[in-house]
This record gives sequence, structure tokens and C-alpha cells, in this order.
Amino acid sequence: MAYRPCFPSEVPVVHEVRGVVALGKGAPVSIETVLVPDPGPGEALVKVQACGVCHTDLHYREGGINDDFPFLLGHEAAGVVEAVGPDVSNVEPGDFVVLNWRAVCGQCRACKRGRPWYCFATHNATQKMTLGDGTVLSPALGIGAFAEKTLVAAGQCTKVPTVDPAAAGLIGCGVMAGFGAAVNTAPVQKGDTVAVIGCGGVGDAAIAGAIYAGARQVIAVDLDDRKLAWAKGFGATHTLNASQDVVQGLRDLTNGVGPDVVIDAVGRPETFRQAFDARDLAGTAVLVGVPNPAMVWEIPLIEVFGHGGALKSSWYGDCLPERDFPLLIDLWQQDRFALDKFVTERIPLDGVEEAFHKMERGEVLRSVVVL
Ligand SMILES: NC(=O)c1ccc[n+]([C@@H]2O[C@H](COP(=O)([O-])OP(=O)(O)OC[C@H]3O[C@@H](n4cnc5c(N)ncnc54)[C@H](O)[C@@H]3O)[C@@H](O)[C@H]2O)c1
Ligand SMILES: [Zn+2]
Ligand SMILES: [Zn+2]
Repeated sequence: MAYRPCFPSEVPVVHEVRGVVALGKGAPVSIETVLVPDPGPGEALVKVQACGVCHTDLHYREGGINDDFPFLLGHEAAGVVEAVGPDVSNVEPGDFVVLNWRAVCGQCRACKRGRPWYCFATHNATQKMTLGDGTVLSPALGIGAFAEKTLVAAGQCTKVPTVDPAAAGLIGCGVMAGFGAAVNTAPVQKGDTVAVIGCGGVGDAAIAGAIYAGARQVIAVDLDDRKLAWAKGFGATHTLNASQDVVQGLRDLTNGVGPDVVIDAVGRPETFRQAFDARDLAGTAVLVGVPNPAMVWEIPLIEVFGHGGALKSSWYGDCLPERDFPLLIDLWQQDRFALDKFVTERIPLDGVEEAFHKMERGEVLRSVVVL
């Protein structure tokens, strides 16, 4: 609901909504009243229709990203623009949008060199969303979409054809990050052999991306056989249970040489070490899983030199939302990409804490909050 007390020209409109907040490190999330300002210059107010539960939300709740509690969680979202600030022209009220967490600035040194997917000064809303008592909230990845409405920079709204919001929203983070890690970051070439370590939402999207890019073999690696079975549904040609020797297993499946590209969609020192070691000489290891700040990776430098090739990290799959989000929707509509298969279940706003536990138990690819 929105309230507009006595003097409309002087008092800003504030929308009072329910949102999922992580109040403290490791504590279960709770539903809180969130005050969302009306959009100012450069901002858009979005009525959220669906938002996926990503492992990154759990990283936030565990204090693994930073300590700026309280967090308004949720960042894989689709919805409808409700209002825009005075100078906004890229979207208008009524547009169906997927929210992105890298609205490029066009001005920084990366943008000016023609590499906007690296933008070093991406935009978020200027005004703050708060709890009822005025405590400023930190929106996860500058989005905060486990809420009935959220305030973002207008550039964070990417207009797409109107489709099921539960599936579309997933493009806004994990699916794009995985798909882009294979297609944009690696980039997988026609005829490459590829392995993906960790077959959650991000890893399965990387598998689909590798197939799209023309890989001739895509090996799914996970500790959980159920995840390996799902990975086949996204195009994996082979599977390997990570309880075995992963490096040897990957070599055995690739004529003894190792894959051309190994994508680590877990983000731990041991999985990145497997990616590093298993790839063929001069091969590429891509880190798309997010390590926590305490993790350290130590390696003899001669091995980095001796193995050759490339070690890359993938921020958001090096995507450009306006180019890549509509592409993924087109591929889905043409039955070339199983976007809807990422949606394991639809849950209410108060189901996020339980969804974290289901994620930890490996029962879901994505639980999606539907509003
Ligand atoms: N780089 C980016 O821009 C970006 C964007 C979104 C998410 N992420 C990160 O990607 C990672 C994966 O996210 P998700 O939502 O797919 O998570 P998820 O929990 O759904 O999936 C992780 C998978 O890894 C498997 N796994 C765990 N340990 C393993 C091991 N040692 N060997 C093999 N498999 C193992 C699990 O069984 C699970 O299937 C997270 O770290 C998340 O923060 C990165
Ligand atoms: Zn920039
Ligand atoms: Zn995410």
C-alpha cells in the first residue's frame, strides 16, 4: 500500500510492503515491513511478480559477502514497472522487466574502452529502502526483490517479452551467470570439450551454454546423483560423481588429456584446484562460483606457468542484459533452452528460509517466490 499524507507536494510517497530480511549473520530470515520510496531521478519502482532463491542470498545471510546487515534479500526477479522517476526513458509503467544487477554507467574506463560488461561503476537506486523504524536496508546485489515492490536504478530494468515471471526472473542472475560463463567468459568454442563442476542453477545453465556454443562433450560433475540426472536434462553428455577423483575422472573421459574448458560453479579452493588441474594443457578454467572471503588458494607458481592457458573469473557471465536476456527468452520460446526446468517449486514469500534448507539438501534447482 502507499500512503500520501496531507501535503502531497512536500511529503514523498512511501510504499509499505512485506519483504524478506536477513537481520543478522546466520540468523533465520524474517518477514518485515519495508518502506520503499517513490522513484526519484534515474529510478524505477517495480511490482515484483516472482523472485528465485539463489545461493548468493544464502551467502549474504551467512555474512559471506559483507557485513552490511540488515539485508533485503532476493535478486533473481521479474515484475512490472509501476512508476518511474522524472528523467527515465528506457522503461515506462506497465513494462514487463527482468531485473539486472549490473546497470552499466557508460562513463567508467571499462565502458569507455568498449567493455561495458566489466563496468566498474554500475548503477543502483540512490534512495534507500528502510525498515519501519527507519533502519536502512542493504538490498542484495542492489535489487532486494523478495518484497512486493522494490526500488532500483531504471537501468536495472531490462524489458523482455511477457512470459512466465517465475522462469524469466531466473535470467536475472544464476541462469545468466552460468550460461554467460560458458558462452561469454570462457568462451567455449565449437568442438570444445567442457566440464562443469557443481550442477545447481548456475552450473546447469553453464552446461546449456556450452551446448549452445557448440561443445562436442559436456561433463557434469556434482556430489549429488540427483543433480547429475538433472544436468543431463540441460544437455550434459557425461556425468561424474565428485566423490571420485575428479581430475582423473575428467581425464579418463577425454582421451587422457582433460577438457579444454572447466567451469567451477561451486567456488571453493578444492573445486577450483580441480578445474585448474583437470583442464588440458593451455586450457581454460573459469571461476563463476563465489568463494567466501576466508578462502585461500595456494599453488606453486611454476604450475601456473607450466600449465599455460587461462584462469578467468566470471562476473554475471560477462553479460549485457539488453543483449542477452531477450536472447535467452527467445531460445526458450524456440525450445532450444529449457529455462522453465530451473523452476523446481513455487513458494510464498515466507518460504525463503525453508528454501535455503532445501537448497542445502540438494532438493531443488530453484525455489521461486511467486507474489
Ligand atoms: N559469478 C556470478 O556472477 C554468480 C551469479 C550467481 C551465483 N553465483 C554463485 O554460483 C555458485 C552456485 O550457485 P547455485 O545457485 O547454482 O548454487 P546451488 O547450491 O544450487 O548449487 C551448487 C551445486 O554444487 C554442488 N557441489 C557442492 N560442493 C561440490 C563439490 N565439492 N564438488 C562438486 N559439486 C559440488 C552441490 O551439490 C550443488 O548441486 C554459488 O557460489 C553462487 O554464489 C555466482
Ligand atoms: Zn561503466
Ligand atoms: Zn544470484
